[in-house]
Amino acid sequence: MYNINQHRLLADLDALAAIGCTPDGGISRPAMSFTDVEGRSWFQQRVNEFGLEFRADGAGNLSAILPSTSASAQTLLMGSHLDSVPNGGRFDGVLGVLSALEVLRTVSETELKLPVHLEAISFTDEEGQLLALIGSRAVAGLLTEADLQQPRGNLEGLHAGMQRLGITSESVLNARRADILAYLEIHIEQGTRLEEASLNLGVVTSIVGVRSFWLRFIGQSAHAGTMPMQKRADALWGATAFIQAARTLIMEHFFPGVMNVGQLYIQPSAFNSVPAEVKLALEFRHGTTPQLDEMETALFDLAQQAAQQSGLTLEIECVGRYTPAQMDEALMRAIEIAADMLDLSHTRLLSFAGHDAQSLSTITPSGMIFVPSVGGISHSPLEFTKPEEVINGANTLLQTVLNLAQNI
Ligand code: HGY
Ligand code: MN
Ligand code: MN
Repeated sequence: MYNINQHRLLADLDALAAIGCTPDGGISRPAMSFTDVEGRSWFQQRVNEFGLEFRADGAGNLSAILPSTSASAQTLLMGSHLDSVPNGGRFDGVLGVLSALEVLRTVSETELKLPVHLEAISFTDEEGQLLALIGSRAVAGLLTEADLQQPRGNLEGLHAGMQRLGITSESVLNARRADILAYLEIHIEQGTRLEEASLNLGVVTSIVGVRSFWLRFIGQSAHAGTMPMQKRADALWGATAFIQAARTLIMEHFFPGVMNVGQLYIQPSAFNSVPAEVKLALEFRHGTTPQLDEMETALFDLAQQAAQQSGLTLEIECVGRYTPAQMDEALMRAIEIAADMLDLSHTRLLSFAGHDAQSLSTITPSGMIFVPSVGGISHSPLEFTKPEEVINGANTLLQTVLNLAQNI
């Protein structure tokens, strides 16, 4: 049996966590930001130092490549993302990229000659600070010019970031690939199921569908002192009534689906002005498209009612629709066999987080391995996975790759 170099992997995780770290120990490397660029060049250095091939594609995805001796070989792709949410954690995405890099380094240090090219990739903007899944959707050929014109983040930020990375809309839209034999991604679970069940690994069966919208509740600005309460068209009344009703609706009628309002902007923003407009970011997730459709109808009905009751108008803008993604049965089996070989406990589970694997699953068999998150916390400076679980995960990824390579 082969084992990854655990000290090298853990040292890499520590080193990268120093880039974009925040005063409370979190990580802020929003896609295409200066700290993201710093993290990218750190990754490139690690690849070059080790003597692996380095490649950056038209979508800003970065890869380390260990070529097969056979030139006509296809690519076994592994990876995740190095970008983070603002003040996020040090494992989200990073674990997948660095574990994949460690698998390439370990294989290159053995006498093994695999019939596949091995590639460790970091995908651009997985977290959607600008668009979401830019890199993996570009590789899968899922992005359109319209997507790039109407990002859910700000358009100027996207253009400035693309300039920083040296990519263009054209290079992004031409980044599609057809050489990928299979895709594997290791990721922290970001939930509590593995920890509560005291299991080492999760084998992902499918990834939830996600839908994202801007909702604008539009009322009438007025003097906060002189306008009688009963005559106000206060946009914040409608928005807050909606958020509370939506939370109750989802918890009571759509379990285990989830919804979130993660951004809320009030105009004019002043102590003594009645809010004229509230723009809120609504996102909801479920395991199947019919359930997502039902959630969408029910949530929008609620939003209309909340607006009417406060004398407001409502505008809805869709900024993201991602269908549920099935993982590949043969890859799930390969992961389970690898875990059994390493005597690691495992279970199959649904991913409530979105991942680059959902894009890749539209063009190639894809599989995901989860490792436990302490307390289920993620997208937070408190995000943590124990070193032994990190090592278990990377060894499982290595063994899965070797199992797959032997059966090609
Ligand atoms: O939103 C997600 O589920 C992922 O963290 N991008
Ligand atoms: Mn992630
Ligand atoms: Mn994330």
